[in-house]
Amino acid sequence: MSAILRVQDLSQRFGGLHALKDVSFDIIDGEILGIIGPNGAGKSTLFNAIVGVVPPISGHVWFKDEDLVGVPPHEVMAKGVAKTSQSVQVFDEMSVLDNVAVAALLKNDSIKSAREAARGELEFWGLQSFADVIAQDLTLAQRSTLELARAMMLHPAVLLVDEVMAGLNEVEVDQMLDRMMQANRERGVTLIVIEHNMRALMRISHRILALDYGAVIALGEPAEVSKNQRVVDAYLGVE
Ligand SMILES: Nc1ncnc2c1ncn2[C@@H]1O[C@H](COP(=O)(O)OP(=O)(O)O)[C@@H](O)[C@H]1O
Ligand SMILES: [Mg+2]
Repeated sequence: MSAILRVQDLSQRFGGLHALKDVSFDIIDGEILGIIGPNGAGKSTLFNAIVGVVPPISGHVWFKDEDLVGVPPHEVMAKGVAKTSQSVQVFDEMSVLDNVAVAALLKNDSIKSAREAARGELEFWGLQSFADVIAQDLTLAQRSTLELARAMMLHPAVLLVDEVMAGLNEVEVDQMLDRMMQANRERGVTLIVIEHNMRALMRISHRILALDYGAVIALGEPAEVSKNQRVVDAYLGVE
């Protein structure tokens, strides 16, 4: 039960806004950590700080005894910490297969091996029959799944997933949860999942962290956190 990622006293400011306030927590190797919090709580800001897209003003992100703060995003990704984008970023005019193959090129020497890896990844996510479909013709659920498939091509040790289930129906949510749990179990990827769907997050998470106004207000087992009075007041009570 060792920590794979250790966030320590992470702070972020945007002008007068204190978007992250000394955020500290550990993620255990192999864990699925859920993150909840009202809109504007700083969830995406936390992810951006971890992967270096918007570096924090202070604090540390320890990954395998190395501080990721100050490391450029592409290097963070190469080291094994990747993030899906909150708005699903896909090349619309390209086929589903090529969208995944482009991501696979970062870990493969040839286009042929990248395509092969991409086919395997599409199969894992149940998208194999859509390989030749142009990405813009996918449903929202398929696009979100494609985003996960692309992120997995980077072979991340830790994958940060930001609201990929937004707009999906409950059946689609459950399919995505099953595959994410399978990736966690069978492929060893540690997941940090920001999600508004509380039922989904309760199902998938080993622990849940709650953020409010940039500060950690609760961290623990899902049942425990969902009953926490500060969480109910800040988040669940307003749903
Ligand atoms: N790059 C930025 N520049 C200025 N303000 C930002 C930036 N990113 C986020 N914010 C602000 O920081 C706060 C937290 O935003 P965010 O992390 O996106 O919240 P959440 O993902 O929890 O909904 C919001 O008030 C948002 O407007
Ligand atoms: Mg967000």
